Amino acid sequence: MTKNNRLTSVLAAVCCLFSAAAMRPAAEIDSCVTELLGRMTIDEKIGQLNQLSGYGYAPEMVTQIKNGSVGSILNEVDPEVVNRLQYEAVENSRLGIPLIFARDVIHGFKTIFPIPLGQAASWNVDLVEEGARIAADEASSVGIRWTFSPMVDISRDARWGRIAESFGEDPVLSGALGVAMVKGYQGDDLSRPNTMAACAKHFAGYGAAEGGRDYNTTWIPEVQLRDTYLPPFKQAADAGAATFMCSFNDINGVPSSGNRYLLRDILRGEWGYDGLMVSDWGSIQQMIPHGYSTDLRQAALQGVNAGVDVDMESYAYIGHLRELIESGELSESDIDPLVANVLRLKYRLGLFDNPYVDMASASRFYAPASLDAARRAVEESAILLKNDGILPIDNDKVRKIAIVGPMADAQHDQAGTWVFDLEKERCVTPLAALKELYGGSDIRYAAGLEYTRDRKTNGFAEAVKAAAKSDVIIYFAGEEAVLSGEAHCRADLSLPGAQSALLRELKATGKPLVLVVQAGRPLAFADDVALADAVVFCFHGGTMTGPALANLLSGKVNFSGRCPVSFPRMSGQVPVYYAGKNTGRPASGITLIDDIPLEAGQTSTGCTSYYLDAGAGPLFPFGYGLSYTSFTYSEPELSASTLSADGSLTVKCTVTNTGSREGSEVAQLYVRDHVGSLVRPVRELKDFRKITLRPGESRQIEFTIIPSQLAFHVDGAKTVVEPGEFSVWVAPDAQSGTPVQFTFVESSEFASK
Ligand code: GLC
Repeated sequence: MTKNNRLTSVLAAVCCLFSAAAMRPAAEIDSCVTELLGRMTIDEKIGQLNQLSGYGYAPEMVTQIKNGSVGSILNEVDPEVVNRLQYEAVENSRLGIPLIFARDVIHGFKTIFPIPLGQAASWNVDLVEEGARIAADEASSVGIRWTFSPMVDISRDARWGRIAESFGEDPVLSGALGVAMVKGYQGDDLSRPNTMAACAKHFAGYGAAEGGRDYNTTWIPEVQLRDTYLPPFKQAADAGAATFMCSFNDINGVPSSGNRYLLRDILRGEWGYDGLMVSDWGSIQQMIPHGYSTDLRQAALQGVNAGVDVDMESYAYIGHLRELIESGELSESDIDPLVANVLRLKYRLGLFDNPYVDMASASRFYAPASLDAARRAVEESAILLKNDGILPIDNDKVRKIAIVGPMADAQHDQAGTWVFDLEKERCVTPLAALKELYGGSDIRYAAGLEYTRDRKTNGFAEAVKAAAKSDVIIYFAGEEAVLSGEAHCRADLSLPGAQSALLRELKATGKPLVLVVQAGRPLAFADDVALADAVVFCFHGGTMTGPALANLLSGKVNFSGRCPVSFPRMSGQVPVYYAGKNTGRPASGITLIDDIPLEAGQTSTGCTSYYLDAGAGPLFPFGYGLSYTSFTYSEPELSASTLSADGSLTVKCTVTNTGSREGSEVAQLYVRDHVGSLVRPVRELKDFRKITLRPGESRQIEFTIIPSQLAFHVDGAKTVVEPGEFSVWVAPDAQSGTPVQFTFVESSEFASK
């Protein structure tokens, strides 16, 4: 090393030691990373790639930390323990490299917000960002500086339990909300101690699991992978998501944890991503049962070659990388970039300057403003699916209210999946909230069933009795939290247990019946919907579910939730989603099974694409939701009837609140490309706007369409827009609206969006 280089490296080492008030400039971070990397042994480098699940201040964990054999720890949430383990890393390991502490903070840490699918139903980007911001402040107050969220997997199959953690079926909505969560977690300076590194997961295609069965294989044509599944990840990367997580599944036979094309060619090569890639729990080891790796040694080699920086709980890297380097199958220069990604994240988080939890402000939970935000999130995510006028419940007129059902007072289950840090006693249930709101009323509560899977009917009589003595029945049904989330898939999407049977008994009383469903997925509950006079759907809402639903049912707050997924008519209909293809025989002349005459002729029911027992299309379409007011949309006006490759189109539409009370509406911009070298979906969401209008108020909203929004993949990263006719809607859901047309006048290619 020349004298000048020596001086530079000394200066770099010195500057890396000084505390930085804000995030260090990227160049300085890179210099610090290079300098530190140069001082690390092979074992210390490998240690940074090893992530373990915490189990307190245990001697063997302390030993590993002091030896530099672990770089990050997940699931340790005791701030005292976090600081003690961090002290061992910073003060008692040779190089003093701080640990990162991580946790699945998926929809809140202590103040639990609606599950992501519920937050998606709010279509409110700012609200989602606010929730993530609050989650980061609470979690970082115990030392968590890395969350494994947002999950931006596209999911079109409600059998898949993890649809609960997704933002639903659409890439544009999912991308917008994923970016909002990244911004909420990371803020504008990731080195601030009350931020968390985001993690875009699960990269990629996890939601395409065959049969909706978790961890199952996926077959995804590359054009569909790039058109549907990758865009929300690209948006998260462009928004600065500090980390990614690879998925458990294989894509067309190659597990993501060993998928060079996905992790290196696309993520690093095409997108230029410089963040950290962490495996999923044990996913490197799971390449053995996948049948992709002979043993853990090969799995470790495949993980490094694919570009998985950090091994979560496989012990593949810590167990085999040194040997792979000594054998020459890997070189130290193969793992240096992986180690650099870890060190860079630690510098970006400011951990070299500020590694400890400030115990003076530790454990900051349940701030009034946080609980208020959590309540607003539920208010904006609950969806009014049906209302014959029974809602809102006017307590001046309706004094006797029966509250029934296993989800009326379910503090644990209303929080939904992925709530490791839930304190259920902080959850306010609908029963508690309605009792408080309708204090002077005659409220009769009878669960009828002990839990949602309950099949015992011995509680029915008491419920029916309460119902018969009341003016209105509010029936809280749904799914327990455990029935959705990871590894919790269902082949039958109806209400579990004897809930539908109880509904029928309640209906038989002849009393007005409001059905309120809390679940982790869209259910196939058409018969229940038909029996109820009003239906509210609330994807598990978290801590403040009760007050929010009470405000909505009473009319203190108006509904504004809209479906982020399509609701199936029957379980056998899934996957069902709006952006499908028209087929050569689109459904028409539907003859349902009970209407088919005896000995009907082979072709008498027509030969088009529908189910004899379910017809075609969803029970409730993507984007759908009712309000206590009503809205009309003018026919969209286009700024031109043609669009060229370098041009743009303005779309104007006037939305009017034609009802008698203020309400919020989600205007959705859809486009259809009528003819393509690959057949295109019948509609694709391109933008949306949530607006609030006073009674009688009209507002013109404006969208802009640019050619790249119309592009689709034809070959690898190449996308094209081809000449031809397009339709445009501005509508309240994916099945409504009056289309107008424009022509795209020339073919053009774009880099992958
Ligand atoms: C789980 C999940 C992943 C989570 C990780 C750590 O198996 O697949 O989403 O972040 O392990 O808990």
